[in-house]
Formats: sequence, structure tokens, C-alpha cells
Amino acid sequence: MALNIEKIAKSKISDVDFSNLKFGEIFTDHMFECDYKDGEWQTPQIRPYQPIAFDPSAKVFHYGQAVFEGMKAYKDKNDDIWLFRPDQNQERINKSAERLDMPAFPKEFFFEGLNELLKLDSQWVQKGEGDSLYIRPFVIATENCVSASASTNYKFMIICAPVQAYYAGEVRVVFADKYSRSANGGVGFAKAAGNYAASFYPARLAAEQGYQQVVWTDASTHEYLEEAGTMNVFFRVNDTLITAPTSDRILDGVTRKSLIQLAEDEGIKVEVRPVSRQEIVEAAKKGELKEMFGAGTAAVISIIQGFADQDQKFELPVMEDSYALRLKTRLTGIQQNKLEDKFNWTYKV
Ligand code: COI
Repeated sequence: MALNIEKIAKSKISDVDFSNLKFGEIFTDHMFECDYKDGEWQTPQIRPYQPIAFDPSAKVFHYGQAVFEGMKAYKDKNDDIWLFRPDQNQERINKSAERLDMPAFPKEFFFEGLNELLKLDSQWVQKGEGDSLYIRPFVIATENCVSASASTNYKFMIICAPVQAYYAGEVRVVFADKYSRSANGGVGFAKAAGNYAASFYPARLAAEQGYQQVVWTDASTHEYLEEAGTMNVFFRVNDTLITAPTSDRILDGVTRKSLIQLAEDEGIKVEVRPVSRQEIVEAAKKGELKEMFGAGTAAVISIIQGFADQDQKFELPVMEDSYALRLKTRLTGIQQNKLEDKFNWTYKV
């Protein structure tokens, strides 16, 4: 595959304070891009990271035809760089694209672009505790026309940001009872930009009440707990780990599916089934709700300290034998090439 590479004249890495990173604010020296026009993807290129110009009529600005992915790269003690299940992200971005009537991006372009970009920017992958390089592939509609129909032109890009934890402090959540993130037959399963845009207003209202996340419920009854927008959600009731099944409303999270497999491998009983807010509230009242945590690429595993269901508030216990911590140690150990990867999930760049 042809790939044009223009390297940066001087790296900006020495200006970066890696001990004080805000998630997703600093980007590496290079970016990958590829345009779709005349019905095909053109020759991809890697260029120095820089602003990109669009006509104000580009369809992404008007109709939100945009999808993305979130991945992470880790550096091990030998300075080798590892990705975690990148095939899952490559497949998912094309599933998301299909739902938004966008063309699939070829697998070989995706992997060659990713490999070359990570090799060029390898010094940006730090290897301290909690360090990783967050990778953001995305596709946007670039046709210059405000008629409401799918674009004829697109741009696929990959940008990368050195990051640490997404949630630095405590996480408390509120169960949604008015707003919805997604509906049956909608785009909830896709990593579509609009899913996130629609969540910001209710998330701000929740933040004003002291909650870092909203746990979205099913749009028709608000009875079933689904996902938290930046992460899938797991509940530990007594010794059973419960999480909602994926559906056309819920993102098929890579971290979620990996944790289900790891938990089963650890001998933990896992139930993937609809989980009602009433069940969780009842379990909390009886002291049977031992843990709640979110799982996602950016969030990794984020322990949830408390939750609110309408006007009832609950704090969760601190568990000595925490499933969240056990699974996090196992997952991040595999991701960072410190623990055996018996499922063949890791991919060396
Ligand atoms: C990810 O975990 O990669 C996500 O896409 C969540 C994002 C909103 C930071």
C-alpha cells in the first residue's frame, strides 16, 4: 500500500510536562489522514500534526455525520509498543460508519497507518504507572453541500494523545429518569459523535448535582440500566458480576467484553442480562450491592463510589476483595505486556 509520509522538522515533545497531562489536550507530532472521493479512498498520508481547513458547508458541521474510535498503546520495559485488540476497533469503526451511511475504511490502510504513526511518534508512548497513548481514529463527512443526505466525500484521520487516568477523582453517578442517550433502532451502538453531543446537557445537569456520570436507562421505560456514555457499567451483587447485554442502544465495549472473559477466567460468576434500577436499589438497601464500576478504553476500570436514583442516594462499601481492582490489575497487566496474554489480545507494533 502506498503511504506518503512527511515528517515533522522538530519534535515538540520537550515542551510537554508528562507528569501533568489533562486527558486529550496534548497531541503527538504527526497525524494520519486519508480522503474519500470519487467513490474510493485515496492515497493515505502522515503529516505533521496541524489544523485542517474545511469549507463552512462541509456536511459534518450540519448533519453530524461523524464516527470515531478510542484505543490505547502501551510501552513495555523493552520499549516495545503494544495495542490491545485493535482488530475490534477496526471492525467497530466500520460498523459505526455503516449505520451513518459512510463508506468502510479498508483494514490494511487502518493497520498500516496506525503502525507507521506509532513508529514515528514512539517516544510519545510513556511507560510510567498509568501512562498510555490514547489513539483517536475518526471519520467525518467533508462534502461541501448543505442538502440533508449522506456526504459523497469523507476524511479518515488518526490522532494520538499521551494520557493518564480519565477520571482522576471519585466517581458518583445518577440514574437517568428523564433524558435518554439512545433509542431502539437508533445509533446508540455506534460510536457516533452525536451520541456524545446529546449526552452533554444532561451530564452537565448531573455534574451540577455532584455526579460525574449519568447511567443511561432504556428510553421507553427508564427501568433498565444501560451504560454510562464514556463507559459500560458493571454491578457486583453479592459475588455475582452483572452487566447489561449489548443491543442497538448500547456500545459493544472492547473493555466490557474483555472483562467479562477475564472475570469468567478468574472464576467469578458473570450474568449478562437486563439489570433494573429497582434491583440495584433493593440490593443497595440490603447491603448486597458490593461494587459498581465503569469500563472503557479511556476510563479503563473506574470504581463508582456512590449513586443516586431520583431522590435516594447510596454510598458503596470499599471492598477488600474488590473485583474491580482484581480485574483492573489483570487487564492492565495484559495490556502492558506484564502478564500472560492467554487470549491473544495484544498486538505488537
Ligand atoms: C473511549 O473510552 O475511548 C471513549 O471513546 C470515551 C470517550 C468519550 C473519551
